[in-house]
Amino acid sequence: MIALGCDHGGYELMQEVIAYLKEKGLEYKNFGCNSTESVDYPVYAKQVAKAVQSGECDKGILICGTGIGISITANRFKGIRAALCGDCFSAEATRQHNDANILAMGGRVTGPGLAVKIVDTFLNTEFSNGERHVNRIRGIDEE
Ligand code: RB5
Repeated sequence: MIALGCDHGGYELMQEVIAYLKEKGLEYKNFGCNSTESVDYPVYAKQVAKAVQSGECDKGILICGTGIGISITANRFKGIRAALCGDCFSAEATRQHNDANILAMGGRVTGPGLAVKIVDTFLNTEFSNGERHVNRIRGIDEE
């Protein structure tokens, strides 16, 4: 199950992502928003972060205008590794190296064709499980 969240700046790109998930028959839970009316991105980032943190959802996708505010918010939650990606190389590497569990994108930055390829890459790339990467991820939460 994939948790989805966006603000007004990410709403239109999220509709493209939803169309892709439907086409692939992938299950998702949409936490909104549901229009281009102005809203506050932390509301949606928090709901998606909590759904992934609790295990209710395996992964999340967050989209705001830049992808920045929504990823900063999600990354406040322990165990959440939200990666802002604007290219497929980063989407692949962040799964392999960081075991990122949330993909963030900028609806005013990344076009729909590329965004769908980024989503596809993110969802279909496994964590490498390499020892050095496991240790570094553990290090993220150490004081
Ligand atoms: C909304 O105007 C915009 O600030 C928001 O979508 C996002 O880009 C914030 O980081």
